[in-house]
Amino acid sequence: MTFQKNILCIGAGYVGGPSMAMIACKCPQYQITVVDIDPKRIAAWNSDTLPIYEPGLDEIVKEVRGRNLFFSTQIEQGIQKADIIFVSVNTPTKTFGAGAGMAADLQYWERTALQIREVSQSPKIIVEKSTLPVKTALAMERILTATDNGVRFDVLSNPEFMAEGTGVRDLESPDRVLIGSRETPEGLRARDELVEIYANWVPRERIITSNIWSSELSKLVSNAFLAQRISSINAISSLCERTDADVTEVARAVGMDHRLGDKFLNASIGFGGSCFKKDILNLVYLCRQYGLDEVADYWEGVVRINDYQKERFILNMLGAMFNTLAGKRICLFGFAFKADTGDTRESPAISVSRRLVEERAELVITDPQALPNAERDLADIREGISFVEDPCEAAAGCDAIAVITEWDLYASLEFKKIYETMRKPAFIFDGRNILDHESLFRIGFNVFPIGKPPLTHF
Ligand code: UDX
Repeated sequence: MTFQKNILCIGAGYVGGPSMAMIACKCPQYQITVVDIDPKRIAAWNSDTLPIYEPGLDEIVKEVRGRNLFFSTQIEQGIQKADIIFVSVNTPTKTFGAGAGMAADLQYWERTALQIREVSQSPKIIVEKSTLPVKTALAMERILTATDNGVRFDVLSNPEFMAEGTGVRDLESPDRVLIGSRETPEGLRARDELVEIYANWVPRERIITSNIWSSELSKLVSNAFLAQRISSINAISSLCERTDADVTEVARAVGMDHRLGDKFLNASIGFGGSCFKKDILNLVYLCRQYGLDEVADYWEGVVRINDYQKERFILNMLGAMFNTLAGKRICLFGFAFKADTGDTRESPAISVSRRLVEERAELVITDPQALPNAERDLADIREGISFVEDPCEAAAGCDAIAVITEWDLYASLEFKKIYETMRKPAFIFDGRNILDHESLFRIGFNVFPIGKPPLTHF
């Protein structure tokens, strides 16, 4: 069969893989190829064990792979054939030179732009899908048009707002699809082509358009606002722990104001994930570049509170367990940055583990999806750390359990049995407030929630 359009996605990661699977599923008339420089990752996408865990994704990939969705390492061939190219390569935070620790590292992205320019022989629409610093599309445009080889490129910005763990649902029924373009006749034509793809399943009123810079900035700002809500409630959680207030009650009362809404008000050990910190730091860097130091400081505060929240968690543990963790066995319930994913990027679990090892505690880590990543993240400090799949087995012989990830399964464990196998006094630090604290206390545990007074037997 001949396909109406050839779509290519460069980068088979958490965004590229699932978002292309969704387009393939909703648009059988298009041929979609996802390419990556990493042959292992491509092999995994072509196998029965996909490289990422995302509820509902396996089913979709099974349905469309080999029909109109293909995974390949042949990047150049893919570029040549494509009418539309989504660029979804990773843009980690720079670790060297100017802007180290803040600005985005654009080397993979620039290499991709150069490669597209070199091998293209027919006009293409280039869609910026990775979250990038504002004005990156302009740089992309400049690179692509720097040599006059007669090929026309139109660059669009189309940030992906899906969250991990709910990726399939978010892609299937997004709150909005945002497409930024130049406002020239060619830019608008390219924009309409992309609108047409999404219109196959997304209601028109949810597909919004803007200029390129607004589109790029909106992604950073959405993530900054979401993270800001978490840092706001987490800041209040520390006050609740000192007073007799309960952060869950406060969040409920606050969230019922319809102007505020009840989402993203769960106090926690701190936010993680590949986006929040990176995007806020990008925003901060951008503000500093424009001399807006007050604005930069304001947003940087969101990240500072998040670091404070993680450190507070450790200090609370230390204080509760008689000011020494040396030689104590602590079981971490969860290592992923949130439930329903195996992703551990920027997970609070990483810094918590490192801090606990610094305090000379022994760690037993359990997680239903994230253990392979956890082992990689802690490869340099493996001594004194064990990884155990079953949470009950993991907790046996430990002094404390620290809940790091809000996996549903932890709330339904038989804590009475777990308590019997643990050293005494036994502690639970619930970094997600998902357990039934009263009943744990009645079993015998000393319970330390986030943002509520502890329940202790001494
Ligand atoms: C986020 C954005 O939600 C998404 O729109 C964007 O495309 C990418 O970044 P993601 O990082 O997958 O998605 O996860 P998200 O659900 O936003 O959670 C981020 C972190 O905040 C997690 O560590 C989560 O546990 C934490 N969180 C979330 C809280 O601590 N409290 C809350 O109330 C909500």
